[in-house]
Amino acid sequence: MTLKKSEYAKSVIKKNSVNDILALKEKREKIVAITAYDYTTSLICDRAGVDIILVGDSAGMVMLGQRNTTPTLMRDMLVFCKGVSMGTKRAMVVGDLPFGSYQPSKEVAMNSAIKFIKNGCDAVKLEGGVELVDTIKALVSAGIPVMGHLGFKPQTFSFWDHHKVQARTMASSLDLITEAKALDKAGVFSIVLEMVTSEAASIISRIVSSAVIGIGSGPGCDGQVLVLHDMLGLYEDIKPRFVKRYANLSGDIFRAISKYKNDVKCAKFPEDENTFHMSSDEYSKLQENDFKSK
Ligand code: KIV
Repeated sequence: MTLKKSEYAKSVIKKNSVNDILALKEKREKIVAITAYDYTTSLICDRAGVDIILVGDSAGMVMLGQRNTTPTLMRDMLVFCKGVSMGTKRAMVVGDLPFGSYQPSKEVAMNSAIKFIKNGCDAVKLEGGVELVDTIKALVSAGIPVMGHLGFKPQTFSFWDHHKVQARTMASSLDLITEAKALDKAGVFSIVLEMVTSEAASIISRIVSSAVIGIGSGPGCDGQVLVLHDMLGLYEDIKPRFVKRYANLSGDIFRAISKYKNDVKCAKFPEDENTFHMSSDEYSKLQENDFKSK
């Protein structure tokens, strides 16, 4: 449900829980997820009625200018998570555990996940398959909802440089299905499938009980996620084929800033309506002073 600004500000809204997300899958209503990294944009996403806001480690690229997500730090993610949680009343906030914050051991993963929860997240996401089963079980038994991430795995992609699109063959699809089933059995409530062929993604969505959220994985998934800066046309360094641009904000922002620059240079800004004045009495008294001698 999308609310007007005034209605949204007044409303007391219940946060989406794991059960709310799973109920959407159950009734075949598509799940809408989007990334956000700060208070201001998450407020807009939440008011627009998205179901899940993912504080993706893509923050390292779109907010900090990294070339990929591998160097993204816990320290930075926690700041982004805090901002998003402050701007979110309804959507489930999922924090993306960055590379290195969950692989060493389940104790390290638990420590990182608890930091995310303390900074306002309602769940955490991690990238990987069967090798993470014990970690996922430990987090879930501590009460922390976990979202998995299979298919194209950006955190380690640059080390291997294999094909981006996953599950193009029967054999690789069967491997991916095994991974998805393992995550499902370990207790994830949701799985992101990134750049998986539409055919394999549809089968996985059908056979697992967790909610499958696709990015570049076709329409058969239980829901979709896009990176906010990609869909708004704000981030222009990379434009994956699966992204649909719903706006051209970088053009809009460029035009607005150029206009502001010209207005200041030509003394067209600020205008009287942007200016504060003292009374004419006070101004006359002020002018009687000899400013130079003071
Ligand atoms: O970090 C991110 O934005 C993600 C999405 C691509 C799913 O993991």
